[in-house]
Amino acid sequence: MRGRDFLSAADISADEALALFELAKRYKEQRRVKQKHETPLNGKTVAVLFQKPSLRTRVTFELAVCELGGYPVILTQAEVGLGQREAVKDVARNLDRWVDAIVARVFAHETLVEMAEWAQAPVINALSDLEHPCQALADLFTLWELWGDVRGHRLTFVGDGFNVAHSLMLLCAVLGTHCTVATPKGYEPKETIVQKALEIAKVSGAQIVVTNDPVEAVRNAEAVYTDVWASMGLEAEAEKRRKDFAGFQVNSELLRNAPSNVVVMHCLPAHRGEEITDEVLDAPFSLAWEQAENRLHAQKALLAAILGGE
Ligand code: CP
Ligand code: NVA
Repeated sequence: MRGRDFLSAADISADEALALFELAKRYKEQRRVKQKHETPLNGKTVAVLFQKPSLRTRVTFELAVCELGGYPVILTQAEVGLGQREAVKDVARNLDRWVDAIVARVFAHETLVEMAEWAQAPVINALSDLEHPCQALADLFTLWELWGDVRGHRLTFVGDGFNVAHSLMLLCAVLGTHCTVATPKGYEPKETIVQKALEIAKVSGAQIVVTNDPVEAVRNAEAVYTDVWASMGLEAEAEKRRKDFAGFQVNSELLRNAPSNVVVMHCLPAHRGEEITDEVLDAPFSLAWEQAENRLHAQKALLAAILGGE
């Protein structure tokens, strides 16, 4: 994957994703026993730029770069004013002169596409209004660890068909994981993403299903995933969405329709009591904290694959 952008979960092949999972597993184990591991980012610098708030992405990318021997430069919108103080392409061309990769969290996905056009350095999507591919990578890694393989297994997403759901659908399609997305009417995943996932799934054999019925959607699920109802930037719609998403809360009642050994996933941050109850998020079958930890290991593997070895 050397030198490549990672803007979409569809930018990776199944073999590449599985190789990243193996590497992430090795990094995770080495970190657990406090064993020093190789430093493929030796002498490399990575800009990590945020137009929106972050806890997990901010901490895990900064640590990932440091632990691989590189140097992270963390930038916030307040300092940089991407697209406001300075044109997106000019920010990209400046960063390109100093750093070896650009990781960016943006409002509009087009901002990432424009940065990637103007920077020679690889650009990594740290969340946009279209996708969150680094999250999906950590999530499928988490399931791969749990199940030993992800091909032929069944993941159901219940909630807003937005960035997190989009990347999950695409990466499931790549890896041959069956993926059902259940949303209220009007909140379905974008048609272009669904079509892309269906196209990719023809090769992997994944079944990709979009429905408005959460109960049916969890019926055969091995993992049930949810995300906030009002994403960053959509806070003004929060009240309307609370009404529209009634019946789509991941709670004990909904999970009674799922197999008894189902696991629950959340990208976090959670709006407790809205899309997920305390009882479920804090349950022993909740993978949320493992997913958060795995952001670090999966992103280390990704950075090593894109930047390492020169
Ligand atoms: N899941 C996730 O990306 O969390 P942050 O918004 O805190 O980075
Ligand atoms: N869909 C959420 C994910 C946060 C990690 C958002 O965009 O705010």
